[in-house]
Amino acid sequence: MALSIRGRSLLGLKDFTEAEIRLMLDTAKHYKKLKQKGELHQYQKGKSIALLFEKTSTRTRCAFEVAAYDLGINAVFLGKDDIQLGKKESIEDTAKVLGRMFDGIEFRGFKQESVDALAKYSGVPVWNGLTDTYHPTQILADFLTIEEHVGKLKGVKLVYIGDGRNNMSNSLMVGSSKMGLHYVVVAPKELWPEESLIKMCRDFCKESGGTIEVTDDIDQAVKDADVLYTDVWASMGEEDKFAERIKLLKPYKVTMDVVKATGNPDVIFMHALPSFHDLNTAMGQEMKQKFGLNDMEVTDEVFLSKHSVVFDEAENRMHTIKAVIALTI
Ligand code: CP
Ligand code: NVA
Repeated sequence: MALSIRGRSLLGLKDFTEAEIRLMLDTAKHYKKLKQKGELHQYQKGKSIALLFEKTSTRTRCAFEVAAYDLGINAVFLGKDDIQLGKKESIEDTAKVLGRMFDGIEFRGFKQESVDALAKYSGVPVWNGLTDTYHPTQILADFLTIEEHVGKLKGVKLVYIGDGRNNMSNSLMVGSSKMGLHYVVVAPKELWPEESLIKMCRDFCKESGGTIEVTDDIDQAVKDADVLYTDVWASMGEEDKFAERIKLLKPYKVTMDVVKATGNPDVIFMHALPSFHDLNTAMGQEMKQKFGLNDMEVTDEVFLSKHSVVFDEAENRMHTIKAVIALTI
């Protein structure tokens, strides 16, 4: 029987095998081709999905909405002030209601337990659109982008520089360990990933051939990197932590010197976005005023350089999310 993930939720990549993740990536490539050729693919007409957002979003929301439309699916957006979730009605009761009406539910919010509970009680596939712990749909887009630019996933050296305990680092570690990449986290010791996560991922590596390394030595770590990846220094909900993070992470900015230190002229730079790389935002202006910074995790020079594939990544959110929806509902 052909491999299938029909009926499954995507709460984190840890629940999927290498073959199942491969299926999602290959399906995304198929849909990307159809989209580029302008071939309609409304294969799931008559279905409806709910998009729950406790936190704000540009890419994830738009990717789910456009992907649903392309598949012929009706998508209903429910922002944090639109429904009772957890305030006047428990997540369990809300999940049971939504499960009676929708064929699938996307959730972006704070706690991983919330998205897990939605999956447990709704009876329909639930997709994690980012929690404080994981951001699995982002990793699918990142891996599709790496395959497009580097040509493979197995054996690729992916160096993540920055907050080593956040949702991006956690998910990149899980994804890398499932797909056989060499994943290196470069962060100050205060921001190293949890030991239990490293242990789980090293177990996955035994099957995939991947490796996990954690270090605070940026010069040594980036040597021979195929991919340099960074993320914001304070994630959504952590805005009060900027002062302490700036102190800790200032030596871990991705600059042209870091790019050169890889020794790889074809190294690619990746970022899930949004990114603080210039002063063209209200937040950028605030950081300039408070801390005298013109950028944070990456310089404008690197962000705009030929190494940067950040907008390919952003586009691939839509193709990969479409694959996940199509394969699961
Ligand atoms: N990368 C990402 O998740 O972007 P949004 O926060 O805009 O959805
Ligand atoms: N770590 C970031 C990722 C945004 C896509 C955040 O959670 O804000």
